[in-house]
Amino acid sequence: MSLNSLEEIASYIVSEGKGILAADESNPTCGKRFDSIGVESNEDNRRDYREMLFRSNGMKGNIGGVILFDETIRQNAKDGTPLIDIISDQGALPGIKVDKGLQPIGDSEETVTVGLDGLDERLKEYASMGAKFTKWRAVIKIGDGMPSDECIDANMKALADYAKLVQDNGMVPMVEPEVLMDGGHSVDDCYSATERSLKSLFKHLIENDVNIKGTILKPNMITSGSTATEQASINEVAKMTIDCLLNNVPSSLPGITFLSGGQSDILATAHLNAMNKLDGLLWKVSFSYGRALQASALKAWMGKPENIFISQDALSHRAKMNKLASLGEWDESLEDE
Ligand code: 13P
Repeated sequence: MSLNSLEEIASYIVSEGKGILAADESNPTCGKRFDSIGVESNEDNRRDYREMLFRSNGMKGNIGGVILFDETIRQNAKDGTPLIDIISDQGALPGIKVDKGLQPIGDSEETVTVGLDGLDERLKEYASMGAKFTKWRAVIKIGDGMPSDECIDANMKALADYAKLVQDNGMVPMVEPEVLMDGGHSVDDCYSATERSLKSLFKHLIENDVNIKGTILKPNMITSGSTATEQASINEVAKMTIDCLLNNVPSSLPGITFLSGGQSDILATAHLNAMNKLDGLLWKVSFSYGRALQASALKAWMGKPENIFISQDALSHRAKMNKLASLGEWDESLEDE
């Protein structure tokens, strides 16, 4: 596969309804996921789990990119094949999470994502290893006085500085300003926090001369807070999300790939499908799911080699369903086939 420009890489990842498998859980987060199925989170188990995902039949044609954690991009499969070669053989591009996590802003509950120190050297190494795109996640909380302008500005400026450096190193930056679902806030509060974040993000990206055609946006959907008593419907989420993006995201962006953020598998697919049924979309609207792609595969696996095939089938199924949703061709009845 020869993709020569940032635009070609970004467009390839979201071509023909394909989306992204987010498998970049840090070791502590992977530990939490493995705790839920009673599996020890050690290097070999993390490798075996991810090798199994990457070898699933349903990767081919449905997944255009895989986001990896630093440990994984360096790992070989049990038979010695580098995991990134398995990903490439499936027709997907390897990507890498490059931020270094969250740091509190003063003594507030808000955080800024750090990792710009030494980033240029890290990017050069990842590019030489074959990474084609990168991810940096900023976290925005909704609550009393939150998000503050200070939190939004600091996070979006860091995302723009990161994106520029990534493009200078020949890779596509995925920019992820995640407004968390946690809390009892309304869907309107989510719209407002997301709009403020996106406005600031694109202002900083443009000021930094980031090539928008060679960038992928990974946003949250506009949903009610996870504990809100009144929950927006699937069609309301779809309509408000697309309205917010149309009002704040340039048409030159090639692709928007959503995070799932704690939504159930089916709801994440249903929301994506409803968005792709709307008229007037300016960009490819697809998925970059972690939990909503992996949850059923993780549960089926339970750390047992004899469960590999049913676990791979579970991932393949979700990948196919989400591809259909990216084309607006999903229906809940397809879940049982
Ligand atoms: P979820 O889809 O589980 O939210 O994960 C996506 C991701 O990469 C978060 O940074």
